[in-house]
Amino acid sequence: MKILAIETSCDETSTAIIENGVTIHANIVSSQINTHKKYGGVVPEIASRMHTEVIHTLINTVFEVSGLCYSDISAVAVTYGPGLEGSLLVGVSAAKSIAGLLNIPLIPINHLHGHIYANFLTGNEPGFPFICMIVSGGHTQLVLVTDHFEFDLLGETRDDAAGEAFDKIARFLDLGYPGGPVIEKEAKNGNIHAYQFPRAMLNKGLDFSFSGLKTAVIQTLRKQSAEGQVINKADVCASFQQAVIDTLVSKACTACKRHHINSLVLSGGVTANQCLKSCFVHAAKDNALTLYVPPKDLCTDNAAMIGSAAYYFYQKHPLSRMDIQVKPNLSI
Ligand code: KG4
Ligand code: ZN
Repeated sequence: MKILAIETSCDETSTAIIENGVTIHANIVSSQINTHKKYGGVVPEIASRMHTEVIHTLINTVFEVSGLCYSDISAVAVTYGPGLEGSLLVGVSAAKSIAGLLNIPLIPINHLHGHIYANFLTGNEPGFPFICMIVSGGHTQLVLVTDHFEFDLLGETRDDAAGEAFDKIARFLDLGYPGGPVIEKEAKNGNIHAYQFPRAMLNKGLDFSFSGLKTAVIQTLRKQSAEGQVINKADVCASFQQAVIDTLVSKACTACKRHHINSLVLSGGVTANQCLKSCFVHAAKDNALTLYVPPKDLCTDNAAMIGSAAYYFYQKHPLSRMDIQVKPNLSI
């Protein structure tokens, strides 16, 4: 079953054609980062207009790249939430039109489920049950997954998401947007022990909190500037990044221990961070866990993961949902 998938929840327009949830025939991502960079973050009105400008081209391109045609497609999948309302509307409208014209099912997909299913596109899919940690720009969650589309939320952030903390600290340091990749680059030349930043709520359940860390970094730097000290951005980035990673590793391992699970799955844009990945590899070894991490381009937003999730969802619920509405605040 070949599915045309569309993802437009934030600042990436993406289309893909996925077969049986695992084979990527094409996965095209058009990023708006260069435009939003100028404003230090995503501007929702600009995001939806830019999705509108490229969506048709990206749908044509995914057929050109794959060599497939419309008659090869059995269903259309689309992200319907969570995300920016105007951006989601562009993808959902395009998907409805194509599914309607071709008279094939429309499969609406939760973006967070998509991130989890990025791990089913790697040729080394996790067996159930597993614990998935979703770490993106809008979410930081620990989810127990007992079967396809059987999710149990174990913990989540009470304030900022981890990616949001990267973005805010990068903006404070004038490093640009998005924060994750620039902080990772700077951190390579820094000392993780230069600053003692807090690891919040470490022994207090499976929820996270990153706003205290963000405030601690900002206050420390303001104090240093006021005292006329030179700020070494690389040291700040390395110490901050390590504080985030230590928190994520600790919570994920605790979740696995508590629930007697030995498969740990990572997903979401922040897991594109190679330092985070190597810390998790070590922790998995120490805790006898099998670790699953998608390749970098499947960690960040893409339509391939939506196409994979749609295949497995449709096996359980073989229905077309042409009446679907966007849900900006959709939860797992
Ligand atoms: O999953 P994603 O592409 O979009 C959302 O669903 O939010 O995640 C985007 C987030 C941004 O906050 C970005 O700064 C962060 O992922 N990110 C990273 C890295 N690449 C992207 N964070 C840390 N290290 C990276 N290499
Ligand atoms: Zn995402």
